Amino acid sequence: MEQLLQQIEAIKKEIAEATATGQAEVEQYRIKYLGTKGLVKQIMGEMKNVPNDQKKEFGQILNAFKLVAEEKLEQLQAALGDSAEVDDSKDYTLPGDTVTVGTRHPLNLVRNQMVSIFKRLGFAVAEGPEVEDDWHNFGAMNLPADHPARDMQDTFYVQEPNEEGAAWLLRTHTSSVQARVMETQKPPIRVICPGRVYRNETISARAHCFFHQVEGLYIDENVSFADLKQTLYFFVQEMFGKDVKVRFRPSYFPFTEPSAEMDISCQICSGKGCNICKHTGWVEILGSGMVHPNVLKNFGIDTEKYTGFAFGMGVERIAQLKYQVNDLRLYSQNDLRFLQQFKSV
Ligand code: DAH
Repeated sequence: MEQLLQQIEAIKKEIAEATATGQAEVEQYRIKYLGTKGLVKQIMGEMKNVPNDQKKEFGQILNAFKLVAEEKLEQLQAALGDSAEVDDSKDYTLPGDTVTVGTRHPLNLVRNQMVSIFKRLGFAVAEGPEVEDDWHNFGAMNLPADHPARDMQDTFYVQEPNEEGAAWLLRTHTSSVQARVMETQKPPIRVICPGRVYRNETISARAHCFFHQVEGLYIDENVSFADLKQTLYFFVQEMFGKDVKVRFRPSYFPFTEPSAEMDISCQICSGKGCNICKHTGWVEILGSGMVHPNVLKNFGIDTEKYTGFAFGMGVERIAQLKYQVNDLRLYSQNDLRFLQQFKSV
């Protein structure tokens, strides 16, 4: 035992004298004394040879020894502290690489804003498929197979109509989502349906084969045309500011009766007359009306008890008025010079 005690004293002395001038030397110290094969472990291993009646006393000596080794390690590390080696090969004053933050697409900016305004009025968001069947896009919306109004919208067919008129197509309007909502939900219903729609049009500055709409549908007891007008008036005021003027013109849609289109005072020329408003001072932004009883009946909704209004508006048109973009093609050309102009939070 005597020998072991001497050995411990000798190592303690060594430890007391140990120094380190850098991280590497601290690590060397750690490995030599406190590593898995270090001296402290080795001495601890001698415990098994200590007679039982001395184990307690010896255990205390060994613990104190281990502590000495550990404290020294802390001291060495602390002493290194601020003087820790600095890597001179790097210039820490150089400015960092610029991180290019992406921008949101203008149509998404406008769509999100539209959605958030209607959400505040209690509308929930509903979505439906872009590849749609004939029933949800046309039939359910009161446009039977031979209805002339089908020609109003040039349809892209995925599968041409069969003898029964069943077909697969790219939806021509988001009104198809109305049908899907009425199929699965019972009134009261209050939804908006943002989405992409497709029409077989020659691409030009003023027309594209796909564009975006936001559809709205509100069905409950006692829903009136006054509710429709007030809701849409609120919307444009939030979107364009309190000074915006609106006017409703009678119109025709198979799925609403009565139907109306809503114009707002031109946001480009403030109503004085310009290219966008074709010198009328007014710009049409949406179609709307009271949901046709045939549409409600298609989904088993009691037309004695419930009425509703619906509307559909073009996101591109709203974006055009907000950002004065005059060529629809810009939205899908992915030109970064165009896209990077739309910064947002
Ligand atoms: N679906 C029509 C279109 O694409 C827009 C529309 C008009 C939607 C009247 C409606 C509505 O819900 O009531 O031109």
